[in-house]
Amino acid sequence: MLMIAISLYVTSVQAAEVSPGLGQSIDSEEVSSVDISIDPRGENLPAGSGTAVSGATVYADKCAACHGTDANGGDGLADSLVGGIGTLATEKPVKTVISYWPYATTLFDYTRRAMPLDAPMTLTDEEVYAVSAYLLFLGGVIEETHELNAQSLREVQMPNRDGFQSVWPDM
Ligand code: HEC
Repeated sequence: MLMIAISLYVTSVQAAEVSPGLGQSIDSEEVSSVDISIDPRGENLPAGSGTAVSGATVYADKCAACHGTDANGGDGLADSLVGGIGTLATEKPVKTVISYWPYATTLFDYTRRAMPLDAPMTLTDEEVYAVSAYLLFLGGVIEETHELNAQSLREVQMPNRDGFQSVWPDM
């Protein structure tokens, strides 16, 4: 009996020694650099702010080549980002950020993590607020001078805000 207990102990010690050694502890600073998801409520939006006025420059420099001068898709390299309001229930629905997306917070989150397509996560938070403001301005959702920040972005009412049904309506 004792022999079995000893051999089990030895086996587990050996197993620990020969483990593949995958993974390592990371500190909160490293976690925060990759933990950038913004949920629809926008509760963890970062500090910073921007308006369509400064966003126009960001857009022209970093987005227009693919999404077109007026964010309407240009030469077809990438989707139109604006337009299509009122088309969703027609035979030819035009789904854009402006006509389809229910939350403006998603525009911030998506742009910050994925755009520009050829250089994702290179924009500063200020640039993301500004270019989001510019697209919402082009789409007719906010005024040109309306400042977006962690609070005001959450308050933007997207045209299709109530166009989705929850799969869990009671929650
Ligand atoms: C190199 C080309 C390129 C550049 C530059 C670029 N995008 Fe995009 N973008 C794309 C492509 C392609 C898609 C479509 C991705 C997909 O859905 O597969 C896209 C999708 C998007 C979407 C989602 C559209 C939707 O309806 O799903 C947003 C929002 C967006 N881009 C914003 C931006 C912003 C803001 C910039 C500038 C900071 C930018 N993009 C720069 C190529 C680009």
